Amino acid sequence: MQLKPFLLDIWLDSYEHNIEFNLAASTGPCWTLNEILNLAGEEERQRFLNQNLVYGRVAGAEGLRAAIAEMQGVEVGAVQVVNGASEALLVLMWLAAEPGANVILPQPGFATFSALPESLGLETRFYKVRRENQFRIDIEEIRKLADGNTKLILVNSPHHPTGATMSDEELDILHEFTSRRGIQLVIDEVYHPIFHPMYQGSATKSAARLAHATVIQDFSKAFALPGIRTGWIVEHDAKRRERYWNARAYFSVSNNPAAEMLAEIAMRHRDSVLGRTQETASKNLRLLDSFMAAHRETLGWIPPRGGMTAFPWLVSGENSRAFCQAAAEQGILLVPGDCFEGDPAHFRLGFAAVTEKFPEALERLGRVVKSWSATKMAKV
Ligand SMILES: Cc1ncc(COP(=O)(O)O)c(C=O)c1O
Repeated sequence: MQLKPFLLDIWLDSYEHNIEFNLAASTGPCWTLNEILNLAGEEERQRFLNQNLVYGRVAGAEGLRAAIAEMQGVEVGAVQVVNGASEALLVLMWLAAEPGANVILPQPGFATFSALPESLGLETRFYKVRRENQFRIDIEEIRKLADGNTKLILVNSPHHPTGATMSDEELDILHEFTSRRGIQLVIDEVYHPIFHPMYQGSATKSAARLAHATVIQDFSKAFALPGIRTGWIVEHDAKRRERYWNARAYFSVSNNPAAEMLAEIAMRHRDSVLGRTQETASKNLRLLDSFMAAHRETLGWIPPRGGMTAFPWLVSGENSRAFCQAAAEQGILLVPGDCFEGDPAHFRLGFAAVTEKFPEALERLGRVVKSWSATKMAKV
């Protein structure tokens, strides 16, 4: 079995620990342990400090599942806690891997989407999230890719890295299609509920409302707590849930119980936690919009409708790796587009992890863009 090189993590690992402005991060502004504990009352803090470091429950801690269920408007039994959305993807792809089966995925996209099924021998079929189509997720294109061997269709809304979103009506249509055809519809909502109405990104409901859909979510992105490695699956189908429980008992047994408590605190105080991400994302996106307008001769972009990442491109059409390297040398981390199996002229820019220093980061990036285009002009 082969797993292709994880280009995103290879790139991040070589720069991330030693960079001044991290515009490669795809999360909101991260929290310290102290800040999260400060959201909690004294009793919760004591419960955290006196937590036994034993194995947790395979389905997840009761308190955490109840808090998630309340947010999602589903029964507690529908929630399976996992070690990040990464483990959710592992469970789902593992269970979809039957001989001759295919799965339908977005491209560009988070590389795990394709790496897991490819390694498991599943056929992968891609629908394109194209800039020529304003990064729209085209349900007609998805429907045309499906056939009698399609086991699973994955959509990611808000989409990483483009920030595309699907409306409630579009999801309803896709849900109706997959239910009729007996195909599992998986909605990756790790960037939900961060939306940008000023760029036509109207807020959408969670797909947890759809009876036959499988939703994956986490505490890494919108909740901005990637270090607690906690995510969840909402599944209304009891048979599927049993299979997830079983797979997860093999893969990782349970989450870290201390992390589950932190997740529960964050969930119970989600107005503050999600509010901080939304506020930072909205404020920084406005600044990014002016920045992109000022550099439109070198950079193209379509503003994201949701999430915390944008996927601009070099108008020259060159591979963005050299540009990203030039930016890294000046202390700004971006991510080359080939890490998402997209057009290599694109790059990912995360705009919600950096707070007060975001204007300074853009100013520095502006200098990189100017000297980059000056060098290009000199070569012409
Ligand atoms: C769309 C998407 N899904 C899932 C994940 C996995 O995140 P985690 O395992 O931190 O929950 C990521 C991480 O970048 C992602 O971008």
